[in-house]
Amino acid sequence: MMPDIIKTPADSAVETRYLVMPGHANAFGTAFGGAIISWIDMVAAMAAQKHCGREVVTAGIDSVAFESPIRIGDQVVLLACVNYVSRTSMEVGVKVISEHAATGKRITATRAFLTFVAVDENHRPVAAPLLTPVTDNEQRRWKNAALRVKSRKELRQKTT
Ligand SMILES: CC(C)(COP(=O)(O)OP(=O)(O)OC[C@H]1O[C@@H](n2cnc3c(N)ncnc32)[C@H](O)[C@@H]1OP(=O)(O)O)[C@@H](O)C(=O)NCCC(=O)NCCS
Repeated sequence: MMPDIIKTPADSAVETRYLVMPGHANAFGTAFGGAIISWIDMVAAMAAQKHCGREVVTAGIDSVAFESPIRIGDQVVLLACVNYVSRTSMEVGVKVISEHAATGKRITATRAFLTFVAVDENHRPVAAPLLTPVTDNEQRRWKNAALRVKSRKELRQKTT
């Protein structure tokens, strides 16, 4: 049965911020990929949870592109929003922006796409609320996500 609640991506968008400390860094003094991925998973989960109003699980961290290094002392801003909802699963996109504390200069450092599945009390998949993209950006993200979701499903079917 499909739920009758319809929400927009903006309704569940989440923004959060961290300060990169030496404990988050690799041997080269830049942020360790694993630390960034853990922040990405967290902020994306919050957006998915907010969209569903219930528990979600990470089904896949589908792609992470580290486009620019992040240095110790930088602040990182993470922006997450639900791009697309299938039935029980949804794609969440995360943009990670590094911000230099002194100059305020901002660079998009990392982009990621993740799949979350809404689950019931027994941790079984359950239908997620419908998503209505409203703005041009939301509609573009929806269209692009639909292509990625289709190709991931096809790949899973062919390779499992
Ligand atoms: C994710 C999970 C709930 C899917 O359960 P399942 O029994 O395979 O469920 P289904 O086959 O009915 O698939 C449910 C949805 O998940 C999607 N899905 C399943 N495996 C997936 C994967 N590897 N990647 C992306 N989506 C996946 C399906 O496409 C389906 O989407 P739809 O309903 O929108 O069409 C289950 O595999 C699980 O619990 N995994 C562990 C999650 C976890 O521990 N995460 C880390 C901590 S949160």
